[in-house]
Amino acid sequence: MTGSSRTALDRPAALLLAAAGQVPASDDLHRWRDDAVKHAVNLAWEAGELAVVGALAAGYDALLLQAPVVEKGRLRLRPVGNAERRHRGAFSTPPGFANALAGRALQGWNADLLGERTPTVVDPSCGAGALLRAVLAHLLAAGLPGNRVLEALHGVDADPIAVLLCRAALAADLTLAGYPCRPEQLADRIVAGDALLGGTPLRPPAGPGVVWHELFPAVLARPGAAIEPVTGWQGGFDAVVANPPWERLKVHARDWDGAPPPGLRVGRASAARALRDVGRHPLTGAGELNAYLPFVETCWRLLAPDGRAALLVPAGIASDRSAARLLEGLTGAGSLDRLHLIEPATPIFVGVSGRVGVAIVELVGGPQPQAAPAQRVAEVAVGLAGPDEPPGDRAWPLTAGLLRVVNPNTGTAPLFGSATDARIVTAVHRRVPVLLRREPTSGVVQTDAWQLRLVTPLHMTRDAPHFRSAPGEGLLPLWEAKHCGLLDPYGGGTAQPRYWVSEQLVRERYGPLCDRGWLAGYRNVSTTAGQRTLLPAPLPVAGVGNSLPLISADRLPLLLAALSTLPVDYLVRQKHAGANVNFFKLEQVPVPPPADYDRPSPWGPGTISDWVLARFARAVVWAPGLSGLADELRRDGVPVPDLADDDPLLRAQARAELDAVHAVLLGLTRDELSHLLGTFTALRIRDEKLHGRWVTAERVLAAFDRLG
Ligand SMILES: C[S@@+](CC[C@H](N)C(=O)[O-])C[C@H]1O[C@@H](n2cnc3c(N)ncnc32)[C@H](O)[C@@H]1O
Repeated sequence: MTGSSRTALDRPAALLLAAAGQVPASDDLHRWRDDAVKHAVNLAWEAGELAVVGALAAGYDALLLQAPVVEKGRLRLRPVGNAERRHRGAFSTPPGFANALAGRALQGWNADLLGERTPTVVDPSCGAGALLRAVLAHLLAAGLPGNRVLEALHGVDADPIAVLLCRAALAADLTLAGYPCRPEQLADRIVAGDALLGGTPLRPPAGPGVVWHELFPAVLARPGAAIEPVTGWQGGFDAVVANPPWERLKVHARDWDGAPPPGLRVGRASAARALRDVGRHPLTGAGELNAYLPFVETCWRLLAPDGRAALLVPAGIASDRSAARLLEGLTGAGSLDRLHLIEPATPIFVGVSGRVGVAIVELVGGPQPQAAPAQRVAEVAVGLAGPDEPPGDRAWPLTAGLLRVVNPNTGTAPLFGSATDARIVTAVHRRVPVLLRREPTSGVVQTDAWQLRLVTPLHMTRDAPHFRSAPGEGLLPLWEAKHCGLLDPYGGGTAQPRYWVSEQLVRERYGPLCDRGWLAGYRNVSTTAGQRTLLPAPLPVAGVGNSLPLISADRLPLLLAALSTLPVDYLVRQKHAGANVNFFKLEQVPVPPPADYDRPSPWGPGTISDWVLARFARAVVWAPGLSGLADELRRDGVPVPDLADDDPLLRAQARAELDAVHAVLLGLTRDELSHLLGTFTALRIRDEKLHGRWVTAERVLAAFDRLG
């Protein structure tokens, strides 16, 4: 927790402690704390300490990190870890984000526009009310009188304590703004319940949950209004704001320091089943579920045909496979207006140390049929520092068709850094096929010119019992991502293997992969912040952990040559977020098909393949154990340098020529090549440190000029 949040919590925590002494003690610490929170709000309210009511609501998620205990006869608050808070998904939206979301959802609202009409706004996971309080402030600023602001606000949350705080904080804010009101006046519109599972006019309930159209008939059961096709809701909210829970519904022990709270696994599994059964989430109810996805779908369905939503969600909404159907649904319907990916410099949630990438999604109009949906162009921007940074040059246009142009197998969104990147990468995709094309729904392979296979035959956890911690008879070393670098089996900075594994197991698991006498892999744990992202390497026949998936292809040296180049790395980077270069990302990178390399070389005798392989042989860092690769190349007439003949300068030159020839094969202009080189910031910084100049770019551009 930061110093400032501790200060903000002082008064609420003191009040909580005092309240805990006045409610019945309980062995169930969370129950005792919940009762104390309720009592503390009442105490503050009755004492007229309205600012403290607000502070209790704002600090609710931090209050969940402690519970009352009696120790040595003294009542005190004890830290209880963050499991309960995570279990409840209680991560209050920070004020800067709350304000930005309210501003975006209520864009253009003013007294003239609103006239006599009272608009409707909802937060379906309102928690203790951070977002609704920001909406309240915006409505007051737009000139709406307090009694109509009160009518405008709607909220649902699964946590009854949070609901109580939300009502009290909204009533306190209105009272402080000069419109006296009490929490009870919000009881009909800020309601406890599950927002995702209740029945709808077209679907029976899948579990206990709010029945939205019965709860808010004036908004969702309006005779004559447009009917939402999946739920049957009639009408919709003018604005939706949300920062839904972000928890994965499949409980992984590693996410909970090995010990998920008791009953969580079963609870989440049944929640996931209920989500599927309710049938209200056709775009998000299947596969590996994260709770935010059905929430976004619900927010969309709750929206009036001319309504606006602003939602704070994980950045994964753009590039995660589990979000692809939703994103396609939103763009296809013309509802996605803006998608801003934000990489905050500091953690945004109190008490969460990791820096998480977040996205603000803005929607216009629910799923009701619209005039010309595919016409809408959404604005996407990646890498913004905060919710208020104008996207400027980072903005690029996303149309419904683009998703399947750049990611034909999955329909996930690309992550272009600018409009120039969007133009370059889209044009390459229109010219050059992806490595492996799948049928979008079934995933069945459709086109596979390279005969590509990506496999991870040994898993570091599952196969751990097979690993030995010292070398021995019949054992092979186990290669991991950290051992290898670009075209360099020993170039990862970590010299010694940690484990050894039996050769027999390797041969059993890898089957024909070993027959070539060498293997190839790529580091799948890799971010775009490094000097390079795509790092393929030839490997000796050895054990290989799952951080280094194996690549197999008919013409493997040629494919490795292509994958090792800066233009191909750039194409991967423009779609990559997070740390995992998943198979689906690599499969969808455009690479010229093998036939393109079989054309006569314009730059010398033989084919383009001969030209490329001669440079590839120079580009590899030759090491013991790669004789299988050397033999294969020699059999194909490729001269292979001697191990003793290692020349880093010749290698850098050969790599630059491979980069340049792939720029040509991908159809890039010199300006485009120059632009893409400029996106490798960490590489440039390293060059400038080592050589005082951006030598890599100079070499590549000079090689490109020679290819003319
Ligand atoms: C990240 S918090 C956001 C709270 C609030 N909107 C804010 O901005 O501070 C997510 C909220 O979702 C609520 N929640 C989780 N699952 C829910 C469900 N199925 N239905 C309604 N609310 C839910 C949690 O109780 C929590 O308050």
